[in-house]
Amino acid sequence: MSREIVYLNGEFLPADQARISVFDRGFLFGDSVYEVIPYYRGVSFRLEQHLKRLGHSLAALRIPLALDWPGVLNELVALNGGGNLSVYLQVTRGDAGRRTPVYDDSMHPTCFACCNPIRDIYAAGPDGIEGIAVLVTADLRWHRCDIKANGLLPNILVLQQAREAGAQEALMIREGILTEGGSSNLFLVKCGVLYTPKLSSEILGGTTRELVLELAREAGIPYQETDLSYENLLDADEVWISSSTRAVVPVLEVDGRPVGAGVKGPLWRRMFELFSQFHHRLMTGEN
Ligand code: PDD
Repeated sequence: MSREIVYLNGEFLPADQARISVFDRGFLFGDSVYEVIPYYRGVSFRLEQHLKRLGHSLAALRIPLALDWPGVLNELVALNGGGNLSVYLQVTRGDAGRRTPVYDDSMHPTCFACCNPIRDIYAAGPDGIEGIAVLVTADLRWHRCDIKANGLLPNILVLQQAREAGAQEALMIREGILTEGGSSNLFLVKCGVLYTPKLSSEILGGTTRELVLELAREAGIPYQETDLSYENLLDADEVWISSSTRAVVPVLEVDGRPVGAGVKGPLWRRMFELFSQFHHRLMTGEN
């Protein structure tokens, strides 16, 4: 069996040989940001959009970084056999040599990337995608959720809470307004119109969210980016979540109650079809 190859600070090496300092600020303070990018048959999906968001996160943390990420990631994917992979990349502020909250410009960022096999959801087709149940719970995160930061403890806790309640994702709500899932964005459908929370520092600007809206625009599906309440969610005809490795997933149950008819909805099927066509164009080099 071949060993997984990871990237760390300029080197490609087996995962069990990669080492970082115990004084790395990513480890000590969560002073770091990350991205998760799907690759299908070795081809990246929305790499440019992910790297743009990485740039936004790094700028927010004032971490300077000039790295040829496309070159690094494409080589990493090739070294791990191509195929269907999600690539994880993380940039921390680096090793401060001791534990101190202050930092200065002399620090060298730690750059890490690794791969994980993923299922080809497009090969599975709409009937191969399982609908999920969600739990709605309080959003306990900070107010810079637009930064894809590694401090994911609230996300981990709400996901665990959801799992213990028999659900697969948690949707978070703050001051009566739904924000997003623990690791996904939220969409709902009412009377043929698609709704999603508007971009703000309370949510992550999902690359998949952006693609859903792009495809909806092209296909003439009406949509609105707006505040959504718990009542809107319970009253929805369809609810979806979106994320890079899952594309769009139908939510069939909210807090134990069926969404609409309790089955995958027609607009979700249409959107999944639009994603499949987009994916096909990417695979055949038409995009
Ligand atoms: N998470 N919101 C949150 C809080 C997320 O963690 C994610 C993705 C998204 C969707 O973003 P995108 O469509 O760009 O994947 C929204 C990744 C997949 C993760 O943490 O594993």
